[in-house]
Amino acid sequence: MSMRVKNNIHWVGKIDWELRKFHGDEYSTHKGSSYNSYLVREQKVALIDTVWGPYAKEFVDRLAAEIDLKKIDYIIASHAESDHSGALPELMRHIPDTPIYCTKNGVKSLTGMYHKDWNFRTVKTGDKLSLGDKELVFVEAPMLHWPDSMFSYLTGDAVLFSNDAFGQHYASESMFNDLVDQAELFQECLKYYANILTPFSPMVIRKINEVLGFKLPLDMILTSHGIIWRDKPAQIVEKYLQWADNYQENQITILYDTMWNSTRVMAEEIAAGIGEVDTEVTVKLYNLAKTDKNDAITEVFKSKAVLVGSPTINNGILVSVAALLEEMKGLKFKNKKAAAFGSYGWSGESVKVIARHLTESGFLVGDEGLRLTWAPDGESRKACREYGRTFAKT
Ligand code: FEO
Repeated sequence: MSMRVKNNIHWVGKIDWELRKFHGDEYSTHKGSSYNSYLVREQKVALIDTVWGPYAKEFVDRLAAEIDLKKIDYIIASHAESDHSGALPELMRHIPDTPIYCTKNGVKSLTGMYHKDWNFRTVKTGDKLSLGDKELVFVEAPMLHWPDSMFSYLTGDAVLFSNDAFGQHYASESMFNDLVDQAELFQECLKYYANILTPFSPMVIRKINEVLGFKLPLDMILTSHGIIWRDKPAQIVEKYLQWADNYQENQITILYDTMWNSTRVMAEEIAAGIGEVDTEVTVKLYNLAKTDKNDAITEVFKSKAVLVGSPTINNGILVSVAALLEEMKGLKFKNKKAAAFGSYGWSGESVKVIARHLTESGFLVGDEGLRLTWAPDGESRKACREYGRTFAKT
């Protein structure tokens, strides 16, 4: 399947309706995804990116039905991650001498992954590649989200090929942002930003401001995952600027795991206490053993404060809580308040362990947390409510 995007630009990618896990098992894709590849047929022909390896043969067969592969003059490899470069080995079997344009880091990553001596042409910000009347202008975008990432801007059509940036894991036959469910679309965009781009937020702001500084007209943003931004493409750029600026909503999220319900009861009482003194704040509770990790992180991203709870087990914490704390360490959240809580029978280290992890991850931990022995009774429940009230006030 190919689809005209604008003038001589055709989408030739792959919609992956079945995908439910991405990056191995690391990222949940409840709505599938797409690997967007674009064929630009001006006087010269450029192919922007390919698709994930398992779809390589299908991709190349369909591309060959669209165009004689030998008529592809240039391949642009915006990013070496295999969801975009995975079909290169199959494609290069057919057209082994075709030049591949990428950044210096792109050569390193592509060579490291495929160990092929392809005809690489290294580009940097401001370099141009003429397609005839129009030209591609390259913009390096390191760490958005790999060192090799780059954007390409096509003059004349005023479209930006942004690769992963501004994308989302969202399978849709409609392909354009104005034709899909807006709530689903923005939820997937937010999840993508929260889980993948959060640690690179300062670079996101710098890169967007740099590109805006070029004062180029922008008619569309052609991402490498999900929909194409043709209706008010600036809206997703504005969202990125908001999300990159230590974004938070008026939300407190309570994340916990529990063995015999004591820590769950604590979580619920703390939530009730927060609600007693702050009727405006959104309070959400998630049992981490029963919650998708990426969805939990998206909620943390939206929160101004989080409380994390676990009972003590073998002097430590439950594995679902440990996994989330480890993941959050790498995401480098900023300006979020936090607290720890948990029940225990005898040794009771969990609260200290959680608080230490939260502090190391950059959360603002204001006290020693709340730990209670055995099953919460009336007094203990009151203590949890009071803790929630105090947390909400401070
Ligand atoms: Fe969609 Fe970073 O790959």
